[in-house]
Amino acid sequence: MTIRLGGILAGLAITAVLVLWSLLPGAYNLAFGPAPEKQPSAYFYEHGHGPAGGFSFDGPFGKWDYAQLQRGYQVYKEVCSACHGLRYVSFRNLKQLGYSDAEVAAEAASWNVPSIDPTTGDQVTNPAKPTDAFPPVYYAGQGHPPDLSLITKARHDGSNYVYALLTGYGEPDPAKAAKVGFETPDGLYFNKHFPNVNIAMPAPLSDGQVTFADGAPNTTAAMATDVAAFLTWTAEPSLIERKQTGWFVIGFLLFATALAFLSYKQIWAGLKPKKA
Ligand code: HEC
Repeated sequence: MTIRLGGILAGLAITAVLVLWSLLPGAYNLAFGPAPEKQPSAYFYEHGHGPAGGFSFDGPFGKWDYAQLQRGYQVYKEVCSACHGLRYVSFRNLKQLGYSDAEVAAEAASWNVPSIDPTTGDQVTNPAKPTDAFPPVYYAGQGHPPDLSLITKARHDGSNYVYALLTGYGEPDPAKAAKVGFETPDGLYFNKHFPNVNIAMPAPLSDGQVTFADGAPNTTAAMATDVAAFLTWTAEPSLIERKQTGWFVIGFLLFATALAFLSYKQIWAGLKPKKA
């Protein structure tokens, strides 16, 4: 009996020594060692926010603003498509933005997609058909522009992030930059809402760049809002249906609960114990 107890105690003691031995140097370093080095870029990053007033599709009762989605598509077409693809979106999907069949066909035909000539086998480009997806982009500049189809899903709080990114360009405070040794290398651009602060994308939007047929404002912030809304739709076209299904399900469950309660009343109606 005592031998067994002694063995357990000895085991515990050895374990305790090993645990302390492995943890103590780290704990010492944490308490008395040098502070971890802060990247110069960390002094400039600022968490971004969405447009003032939010998006029309925010919240449980949110709705698409179709005029806005059409403007966002125009911003993508006239500005972003020079560098970014949209490969998971087909032209026929644009019907959901409120375009007619004829408008979708005309819109598709204004884009060229790569294809193969059936007689010669050569690579050619043809006007797109509604069933084609948006064409890939071969970008020769610095960096790798990601495909934008799913970008608002691929980034945390994506709709707001895209808006913040497009409006986050500027110059770092020169005094602060000199103090912490921060600089923006050639070919990169300062953007306080990009996690790395220096981004390979030159500021794509400037005030008045795109003219909207509906005369909507075309400041950088307004265009950024519209294109962020459009990219929210490309990433989740069924966002609004999903919210509405949620309300339907809640309504149905309430109705089913009421029914269950009434049938409980009905079934037990005759079986109440008599009051004494
Ligand atoms: C001149 C080319 C060019 C244009 C025009 C352009 N971009 Fe970019 N974009 C880039 C490059 C290059 C990157 C990669 C940046 C990096 O990783 O440093 C990028 C990255 C991005 C990212 C991803 C950032 C991240 O978190 O990784 C988003 C979102 C984006 N662009 C949106 C847009 C939108 C919206 C437009 C149109 C308003 C646009 N871009 C126009 C070149 C461009």
